[in-house]
Amino acid sequence: MWGLSSIVILVAGIAIAHATSNSSNTINNSKLHTWWHNSGEITRSAVQPASVRQSDLYSIQVTNSVDQTYYDSFVYQTIPRNGQGNILIPNDPSSTTTASDGITIEEAIGMTMSWTSFLYSADAWVKVHRLDNSSIESDSFVIRPTNLNLTTSVANGDLFIQVPYDGQSWKFSVEFNDNLYEFHDGCSSPSCSYVQNTNPNGPYYVDDYDDSMPLMAVEPLDSLLIFASPFEDESLVPDETADNVLIVEEGRISGLNTTRANTVIFKPGVYYATATDYLNLSASVDWLYFAPGAYVKGAVEYHTTSALIKATGHGVLSGEQYVYQADPTDGFQNHNVNGSPLRMWKGTVPFGQQTTWVVNGPTLNSPPFNSMDWYGDMASLSVLCTDYRQVGGFFGQTDGMEAYPGSVYQDIFYHSNDDTIKVYYSDVTISNVLVQKASTAPVIQFGWASRNISNIQVDNVNIIHSRWNSNGSNPGLIGSNNVYDPSSTSTSAMNSSTANTYSTAQDITFSNIRAEGISGPLMRIYALENLNNITISNVWIEEFGSCDGYENLGISESFMPMMTDDSGNNVTVDGFVISNFMVGDEKVTLDTASTVGQLYWDAAFDVTIQ
Ligand SMILES: *[C@@H]1O[C@H](CO)[C@@H](O)[C@H](O)[C@H]1NC(C)=O
Ligand SMILES: *[C@@H]1O[C@H](CO)[C@@H](O)[C@H](O)[C@H]1NC(C)=O
Ligand SMILES: *[C@@H]1O[C@H](CO)[C@@H](O)[C@H](O)[C@H]1NC(C)=O
Ligand SMILES: *[C@@H]1O[C@H](CO)[C@@H](O)[C@H](O)[C@H]1NC(C)=O
Ligand SMILES: *[C@@H]1O[C@H](CO)[C@@H](O)[C@H](O)[C@H]1NC(C)=O
Ligand SMILES: *[C@@H]1O[C@H](CO)[C@@H](O)[C@H](O)[C@H]1NC(C)=O
Ligand SMILES: *[C@@H]1O[C@H](CO)[C@@H](O)[C@H](O)[C@H]1NC(C)=O
Ligand SMILES: *[C@@H]1O[C@H](CO)[C@@H](O)[C@H](O)[C@H]1NC(C)=O
Ligand SMILES: *[C@@H]1O[C@H](CO)[C@@H](O)[C@H](O)[C@H]1NC(C)=O
Ligand SMILES: *[C@@H]1O[C@H](CO)[C@@H](O)[C@H](O)[C@H]1NC(C)=O
Ligand SMILES: *[C@@H]1O[C@H](CO)[C@@H](O)[C@H](O)[C@H]1NC(C)=O
Repeated sequence: MWGLSSIVILVAGIAIAHATSNSSNTINNSKLHTWWHNSGEITRSAVQPASVRQSDLYSIQVTNSVDQTYYDSFVYQTIPRNGQGNILIPNDPSSTTTASDGITIEEAIGMTMSWTSFLYSADAWVKVHRLDNSSIESDSFVIRPTNLNLTTSVANGDLFIQVPYDGQSWKFSVEFNDNLYEFHDGCSSPSCSYVQNTNPNGPYYVDDYDDSMPLMAVEPLDSLLIFASPFEDESLVPDETADNVLIVEEGRISGLNTTRANTVIFKPGVYYATATDYLNLSASVDWLYFAPGAYVKGAVEYHTTSALIKATGHGVLSGEQYVYQADPTDGFQNHNVNGSPLRMWKGTVPFGQQTTWVVNGPTLNSPPFNSMDWYGDMASLSVLCTDYRQVGGFFGQTDGMEAYPGSVYQDIFYHSNDDTIKVYYSDVTISNVLVQKASTAPVIQFGWASRNISNIQVDNVNIIHSRWNSNGSNPGLIGSNNVYDPSSTSTSAMNSSTANTYSTAQDITFSNIRAEGISGPLMRIYALENLNNITISNVWIEEFGSCDGYENLGISESFMPMMTDDSGNNVTVDGFVISNFMVGDEKVTLDTASTVGQLYWDAAFDVTIQ
């Protein structure tokens, strides 16, 4: 590892031409692999089907210690609604609606999310240039999560970040102090939502914020995420010369529903299914490979009965062409129901067959709804998901992935606007998750229905941004929501007689959770079953919002009220331990549980604060 003085010499000694949009100088050697799209379009409108949205704000170059030449790494960008507006009918810009799609002010204020990915096998340096030519100074940025302690340097107005190589993927956000957006609510009552003062033509506009409009969250207006991944393991890269392989032609995707191949390969390039089609795979296909530099617009449905199913490779699967909640059974129009709208990942497991779905590498962009659901014998499906990212989760209901029994999730980034880390099944391990959370639902969710679940570990969750717009948006780091009731417009949190007292959630640990910035509460648990031996340990919340009436909203309060079944029998809560919970630099004790921790639970429950 280099010392500080050699960093300065390295950075100062290199003259670098700024990449222009359609030129590129990439690298693919044993130390570093970057890629580019010649079809990059810089626009805030919808892009052409065969183009990729390119960041209008950032360019990135990467080098490693071997040859010290900087190479371009394409910077992708996603904008709320993908430049299509809030439309109901695919490709029909006149079909706008005011019905909620989960986006309130994000489009109006011009929010964006940019990201770049590359593969490496030795320490790398990332050079960040701002395309508006704003100069970056040593005190004008922050890298989150802040506990990565990355070594940085600035020179000639650009930022240089050292990304160590340790065989794991490194994921982080680069944020500029002059680009932070302050989300305010329109009033300090529990049901208010965001207002904005930057776009008079947009919704929820106010001329100025006043003292009744609390600060809810601070988030980059233009996020920039850097994803550095180790090279792909050979076992996860198909042999493209094998005779069971289909190599998809660039452009409009066709033939995937009729192919007899087992493996479908997307090489570098741009592919699209259109807003009214998707990757409805024939029954022979059990492996999809998205090569680094492949950008595939579509959604995937497997029809294989194979016991081993794969989705690998560091390319992108993007839902950007679809309308919100696009329903394939209804011409891919918006349909405000839960069953039929498109999932980005879907499949059906044959009854009684233990099935494994291996996911390594892909970046999922702009899901139009729940990102993944499987059907059939879900109890027999395990997901092994590593080095996975979900970006551009601006729409509502953009949940994270399901963790079916026996699943392992590791090294994940989620930008999501609903339940993010879902633990609805037993024997699940989820670790190293980086989260940027939009307005709806808790980060970790285990409720909505009574469950018998056990042996669950969720460890090392770094929340770099979270924001909830109201007390009714199910705020919190850990949540068990009351019974899911699609007919209800509220959270039905008030009906306390919905539990099943014959069911138990037990032997669960939620550990090493950090929430940077203003956070929601530690937990809102409406126990729909008995809880036994549940430990929440090593949690740090940087702060609960407190200025201009935020404290009146109730957003930071944790609840675990008594619940009963419909005959009035109480649930039991035994061995519920909250250990080493810090708010700012104060450790929460039994004495300060309600003041510092904002924790409230039913007195009949066996809760230990230690
Ligand atoms: C990158 O290099 C690897 C190893 O030589 C090769 O298999 C792969 O096809 C190359 N990719 C591109 C996009 O050139
Ligand atoms: C790059 O080239 C493509 C195709 O020639 C064009 O559509 C696109 O607008 C260009 N992008 C930029 C940023 O100039
Ligand atoms: C930034 O600087 C480059 C190189 O001098 C110039 O080509 C470009 O137009 C500038 N961009 C802006 C937004 O000023
Ligand atoms: C970053 O520094 C902090 C404080 O010294 C330390 O606790 C933490 O482990 C470091 N993180 C890494 C990834 O080394
Ligand atoms: C395959 O999908 C295309 C649309 O992409 C459709 O027109 C065709 O009918 C489908 N074929 C079969 C056999 O389902
Ligand atoms: C997807 O493929 C399945 C199996 O071939 C077929 O039953 C279904 O109708 C297809 N879906 C659509 C929306 O075309
Ligand atoms: C609460 O839920 C229980 C159990 O589902 C149901 O029987 C009861 O009618 C509900 N009460 C209200 C007020 O909705
Ligand atoms: C949990 O298991 C118990 C005992 O087998 C059973 O009575 C109960 O119905 C189960 N709960 C659920 C939600 O399936
Ligand atoms: C409590 O749960 C943990 C896992 O979270 C497990 O390791 C431990 O054995 C359980 N304790 C008892 C007494 O079952
Ligand atoms: C916030 O919502 C919870 C229900 O989830 C409720 O118990 C609490 O009273 C609410 N707080 C305020 C201030 O309305
Ligand atoms: C159920 O819980 C409530 C709240 O703690 C308590 O007042 C009541 O006595 C309990 N009922 C029984 C039968 O234990």
